[in-house]
Amino acid sequence: MFDHLPDGFTGVITGAGGGIGQAVIRALLDSSQPGRVIAVSRQTPTALQDIDDARLTTLALDLTREGGRLALQQYLDSEPIHLLFNALGTLHDEQRGIRPEKRLEQLDAESLMHLMHVNASTPSLLLATLKSSLQGKHPVIVTSLSARVGSIGDNGFGGWYSYRASKAAHNMLMKTASIELTRLNKESIVLCLHPGTTDTPLSEPFQARVPEGKLFSPAFVAQRLIEVIAARTPEDTGSFRDWDDNIVEW
Ligand SMILES: NC(=O)c1ccc[n+]([C@@H]2O[C@H](COP(=O)([O-])OP(=O)(O)OC[C@H]3O[C@@H](n4cnc5c(N)ncnc54)[C@H](OP(=O)(O)O)[C@@H]3O)[C@@H](O)[C@H]2O)c1
Repeated sequence: MFDHLPDGFTGVITGAGGGIGQAVIRALLDSSQPGRVIAVSRQTPTALQDIDDARLTTLALDLTREGGRLALQQYLDSEPIHLLFNALGTLHDEQRGIRPEKRLEQLDAESLMHLMHVNASTPSLLLATLKSSLQGKHPVIVTSLSARVGSIGDNGFGGWYSYRASKAAHNMLMKTASIELTRLNKESIVLCLHPGTTDTPLSEPFQARVPEGKLFSPAFVAQRLIEVIAARTPEDTGSFRDWDDNIVEW
């Protein structure tokens, strides 16, 4: 599966209750290489309950809160993490009245801060909290799901202010962390990944506009992202790629 990682490696998947997170967990467990797969979700994901695999542990923690991140740190107890796959992120939230903006006058400070908090602050604070499990001499791959719309260079359509900005901030925080992690662990690889438009609750309200054949299943995306990750070496750290292994401009 991953030449860079040892057999019996430890993987931590966050956003494990989400469409892509669940599919990544299933794809990892299809391989004999992982020794331990730790799925972190706000609630124990019912969709994973059919999995009967002693390698899987589910933790119900809210990583957007400091208490959740510290509980994960305590659980790991500075043991090495080899794969940290962050699939946590948000675009719309009915309860909070958050929908992607089409026009400037729809910008709302609280909604902008919420997306920044979930999409940008949380993944980077997670790296900070888990630093003792990432640094050292062991091979480690950190991947965090971004989105092509977070690319400033690729922004030709406008709109979706808060989501775009939060993913651009996510990318800068991950890129910066990749540089520090290289100093702390020469075997580290940090990647921002665009999964492509995937059939999950996140994309559900916007799927009508997706061209034929461009809405991927979570299982397909998980497989492609695993292939993209598997092809990386520490020289690739700090890069932004899509599901088809193309570099995405910042
Ligand atoms: N689907 C797409 O077309 C698409 C395209 C580009 C990028 N992405 C990115 O891919 C990642 C995964 O998305 P997905 O499509 O799998 O979406 P999803 O099914 O909605 O899953 C996202 C997961 O993120 C966590 N999450 C969302 N809001 C949260 C909040 N307020 N507080 C804490 N956790 C929260 C939840 O995890 P738990 O349920 O485990 O708590 C949720 O299940 C996201 O970062 C998204 O931006 C997706």
